[in-house]
Amino acid sequence: MAHNVTLIPGDGIGPEVTRAAVRIVEASGVKIEWETINAGSEAFQKYGEYIPKELSRSIERTGIGLKGPITTPIGGGFASINVALRKQFELYANFRPVKSLPSLPTRYPSVDLVIVRENTEGQYSGIEHEVVPGVVEALKVITEKASLRIAKFAFEFARREKRKRIHAIHKANIMKMSDGLFLRCCRDIAKDYPEITYGEHIIDNTCMQLVMNPYQYDVLVMENLYGDIISDLCAAFVGGLGLVPGANLGHTCAIFEAVHGSAPDIAGKDMANPTAVLQSAILMLRHIKETEAADRVHAALEKTYKEKLHLTRDVGGAAGTSEFTDALIANLESVAVATG
Ligand code: NAI
Repeated sequence: MAHNVTLIPGDGIGPEVTRAAVRIVEASGVKIEWETINAGSEAFQKYGEYIPKELSRSIERTGIGLKGPITTPIGGGFASINVALRKQFELYANFRPVKSLPSLPTRYPSVDLVIVRENTEGQYSGIEHEVVPGVVEALKVITEKASLRIAKFAFEFARREKRKRIHAIHKANIMKMSDGLFLRCCRDIAKDYPEITYGEHIIDNTCMQLVMNPYQYDVLVMENLYGDIISDLCAAFVGGLGLVPGANLGHTCAIFEAVHGSAPDIAGKDMANPTAVLQSAILMLRHIKETEAADRVHAALEKTYKEKLHLTRDVGGAAGTSEFTDALIANLESVAVATG
């Protein structure tokens, strides 16, 4: 039976990298009926809405989305569609595994850490106003409900995957009430998981600690903005933004998307690395219990990196998006022969 998945191509490099991921997933043999509906500027031109009702209905129906990045205008214009989708579907947990690919030379050869980012509040609540001309106030909202929920998600994940340590990342020395509440919630939840070592690090120190020695971390849980920044920092450990996947998870829906943005500097040039969105699609395959296909696609990805023949420019190769994708699909067939 085919799975129904909503495909949101996005803009910038979004359509290129999602097309690559779809080709590879289809080559794996998993049957998926894609409902392709875009969000953002393209959707606005077609439907008069940045998040068209057709898209919302599709996600409600399928419960699963694979999404390309969507550009957000800086300092004005419409509000982030990415943030709006996460809020609309209460995708409260942003799950971002940062794992080295075995054969890609990087500063740190074997990083394996997971960032769990609260996805619905913090400074991303979008509550900003001008108090008087020249003075703008932006509110950071931290609630007990959302903090307990994300802490529980992180500890449940750690228990299930036999992870050993969780660090809550905060700035409660300065934001005593908001980050203080976040920390209290993490401590409360930590009591129920005695087998997991719980620690707390201040965000600025965390940046330094990560760069000095990322191996000291296992699972990191934090509020929205810290998670956004730390994710890009950690992407650099494993080869850059072209590599790191993500999942936005809620109780009824899940949307899978890369950590990176729409990369306007390389859009439309067949230069983007589709690995991050492909690894997001692998997370999606695991989510829909297509484990064998997920393993096979991952094996083909590792083989393509080991061969080093068709890598994209961001990781030291000379191939375009399509050449990398073709090579991976060819490897998918050989992996299938080897294992099957
Ligand atoms: P970005 O992630 O788009 O690009 C940062 C740098 O990484 C650029 O040099 C880019 O070429 C490179 N890069 C990113 N992805 C790559 C890939 N797959 N392959 C090779 N190189 C890659 O970040 P930037 O420039 O800050 O943001 C651009 C736009 O994307 C903004 O409008 C931002 O709001 C939006 N954005 C959207 C996100 C989403 O849809 N979830 C997430 C982050 C940013």
